Amino acid sequence: MCRSLTLHLRERTEPPDGSPFPSTVPPPSRRVAPIVWSHTPTEEPTITTAASLAFAEDHLSEDDHLAAARQRADEVGVVPIGPGAGAVLSFLASAVQARAVAEIGTGTGVSGLWLLRGMQADGVLTSVDLEAEHQRLARETFTEAGFAPQRFRLIAGAGLDVMPRLTDAGYDLVFLDGDKVEYGEYLEQAVRLVRPGGLIAFDNALWHDRVADPSQRDPETTAIREVVQRVATDDRLRSMLVPLGDGLLVAQLLS
Ligand SMILES: C[S@@+](CC[C@H](N)C(=O)[O-])C[C@H]1O[C@@H](n2cnc3c(N)ncnc32)[C@H](O)[C@@H]1O
Repeated sequence: MCRSLTLHLRERTEPPDGSPFPSTVPPPSRRVAPIVWSHTPTEEPTITTAASLAFAEDHLSEDDHLAAARQRADEVGVVPIGPGAGAVLSFLASAVQARAVAEIGTGTGVSGLWLLRGMQADGVLTSVDLEAEHQRLARETFTEAGFAPQRFRLIAGAGLDVMPRLTDAGYDLVFLDGDKVEYGEYLEQAVRLVRPGGLIAFDNALWHDRVADPSQRDPETTAIREVVQRVATDDRLRSMLVPLGDGLLVAQLLS
């Protein structure tokens, strides 16, 4: 397989000869062209299709506790983070040796469980959600997965009510997955909450392919698109947009 130095966008859907992927490659997303990487402009490119993205998404398999959390999410109509972005969160929490993580949008604990598994053994996850029922289910998720009650602090409330009460520079990682329309305000709060060198992550940064499509101007898409643009141009932050799941926007607060 070629490694990429150059990125080309092409309208191709078929896998290259010798591709390890099945012949029935799922169609690419509605609006985003498949990504074609090439080693040099003259070399036959290797293509990254929806099948490759699905392969990357499933790089790590989820265990029974995550499956149970997803089942709970289905039952209450919550859409949890995908396994690929969950693995990224776990990796990031581990990389910064996180002892304090704040999350807006607990859901039933899928993202929280990925985060807890990457954190230090004495780390505490503070997670905020409007819905007490979601947090009851998240508590089940964390407890069944073996985490003691002192490892997680669940706060029922609106993100924008609770975040101003959290400690300045008190968190190694802040993960935002609550109300999409509030992402801009979450960003300012998160920059205050995270310590220098700490990380901020937003789920749904691609929002069902809508963010990349300028014709989509609904309030959620617009708010997310503005945050993606602000993060990319904010001198306080170094960022990347990981195209796993529904997109994970990650930024580091520079020291
Ligand atoms: C996408 S789900 C979170 C999924 C969770 N992060 C996971 O991956 O398992 C969004 C959650 O945010 C909560 N929520 C919505 N608006 C909120 C707000 N303004 N403040 C706090 N939580 C909110 C919802 O109740 C829901 O549980």
